[in-house]
Amino acid sequence: MCGIVGYIGHENALTKIITGLTSLEYRGYDSAGVAYVLDNQIKIIKKEGRIENLKSALSLVDHPTIGIGHTRWATHGEANERNAHPHQAGKFTIVHNGIIENYQELKQMLEKNGYTMKSDTDTEVACALFDFLYRDEKNVLKVLEKATTLLKGSYAFGILCSDDTSTIYAMRHASPLIIATKENEKFIASDIPAILEYTNEYYLLEDDDIAVLKEDSLTFYHEGREITRPKQIFEGNLETSQKGGFPHFMLKEIYEQPKVIQETIRFYFDGTKDSLHKNLPDLQSYEDIHIVACGSAYHAGLVSKSLMEEIANIPVTVFVASEYRYQKVFYHAKTLVILISQSGETADTLASLRKAKEAGMDTLAIVNVVGSSIAREASKVLYTKAGCEIAVATTKAYSAQLALLSLLTLKLALLHNTIKEEELETINEKINLLPKQMEDLIHNPQYQKMATSIYHHHDIFYLGRKIDYAISMEGALKLKEISYINSVAYPAGELKHGTISLIEENTPVIGVITDSSIKEKTISNLEETAARGARIILISKEEIDKVDDLILLPHTHALLEPILAIIPLQLLAYEVARLRGCDIDKPRNLAKSVTVE
Ligand code: F6R
Repeated sequence: MCGIVGYIGHENALTKIITGLTSLEYRGYDSAGVAYVLDNQIKIIKKEGRIENLKSALSLVDHPTIGIGHTRWATHGEANERNAHPHQAGKFTIVHNGIIENYQELKQMLEKNGYTMKSDTDTEVACALFDFLYRDEKNVLKVLEKATTLLKGSYAFGILCSDDTSTIYAMRHASPLIIATKENEKFIASDIPAILEYTNEYYLLEDDDIAVLKEDSLTFYHEGREITRPKQIFEGNLETSQKGGFPHFMLKEIYEQPKVIQETIRFYFDGTKDSLHKNLPDLQSYEDIHIVACGSAYHAGLVSKSLMEEIANIPVTVFVASEYRYQKVFYHAKTLVILISQSGETADTLASLRKAKEAGMDTLAIVNVVGSSIAREASKVLYTKAGCEIAVATTKAYSAQLALLSLLTLKLALLHNTIKEEELETINEKINLLPKQMEDLIHNPQYQKMATSIYHHHDIFYLGRKIDYAISMEGALKLKEISYINSVAYPAGELKHGTISLIEENTPVIGVITDSSIKEKTISNLEETAARGARIILISKEEIDKVDDLILLPHTHALLEPILAIIPLQLLAYEVARLRGCDIDKPRNLAKSVTVE
């Protein structure tokens, strides 16, 4: 949700900023812009659309050594050049990620004081506020400190002031921002991939921290006092944030899943009860569970609800985070709240976490990005080992969430005696088989042909019952977000209550059957649609006649079935989007990290 990069050093800031922004484009790609210092003047260049447009507008003769840049995911005002960042007001030029919630109120106050806004953005209002405060204060640091008390909402800012063109200021509140260093070079960035080509040393800014970057110094302030923040070293490498020969990050990330699943599972579980005891939190005291998340992470929650209830015999309620944060929630002292998030920065999930903590509930976060806000604020955190995920549509982070949730289910089942310790050996053997089974599914040659038969349709339906309905929901989301086909998942028995009227000759219907206990029921629902002309694609672990296409899933333990079943759905979505010529890694209107409500 908007990407920020800033550079101060002795090399060409534009090169560094463009490289950084390009790796942050997953956060937004409506427009892009830079501001840089040349002969003590601040120059701004911005363009609608992708970073490529900005790149071609940059002057090759300019070699600034200080600058800030931005790639935007529009929240206030259209995605055009006027609303693109950086914004300027008086002596201040800024880039912003987040939402200023009280911007209307501030705007009125600033307009009364002589400011006229040129854009529709909340960012320009924040910029004008800095300039307004500077009229009296004449000290940027003091201005920013004062601004933290006046701005409501979320923000990460990169800031230049024309009275002091040898400094970049950075501050954040509820939006991520890091400061990276390499000898006398310094960067600000929304996320680590932006700086990995240059350095792996960075500092995490905490809420309301202000950082002052000069070529020869880096100082942190919090509530008016100079403070220190620990230096962090990022252990991953640049390769994980590059395509490695694949045409799209999404495909690369789908192919990485066997390794990611193995690494996630083996980080916590070596086949023994002891490892689950040691590496996963104590779950003994909980009588029910809330799972709270958004999008695919919410779907991972729905899948694990089925597993936890059926296999571990514990009641689980799954909530969409944007609802949970505002709705009345019933809980008691023995309720555990599990928050699931790849980025660890999703605004609604973070707000739900804070609500649960305020209510006194125990919170456990399942997060991929180390050190992210949700990871830091939850009482306990478990990390998925998916590595850096770049494609906007999640694949490997989603399946890593499934893997970790399956281990929690296993621990709960042992506690509740619904799985006996003797079964662990069989489960462990199945886990050992999993990477090869996943590889085989990834390399199944059928997806392209199946995609060819459905890619020109406007509507596609996904059907499943119980856990297979939850899996179908993720399959439908994958298809719609990257191919723009209206694809919807239904509990298989529900179609006849209205939606079946949409089925016509050749309408694609994709069935998912991993749960054998309900197999016959789903099959007869699929047959009902076939009788009305539907073309049936089935993802199933058993051979079933009378379908147009069948992807056969290998046999494994029930805890691991969803990890296998999602692969064909991801690859089918990918192939359909490819045939439709869509921008697979950066679907329209989306952003990877949703740090606004
Ligand atoms: C879909 C997708 C989104 C995210 C959702 C939550 O492919 O990626 O639906 O799952 O925005 O994001 P995180 O997991 O970062 O909280």
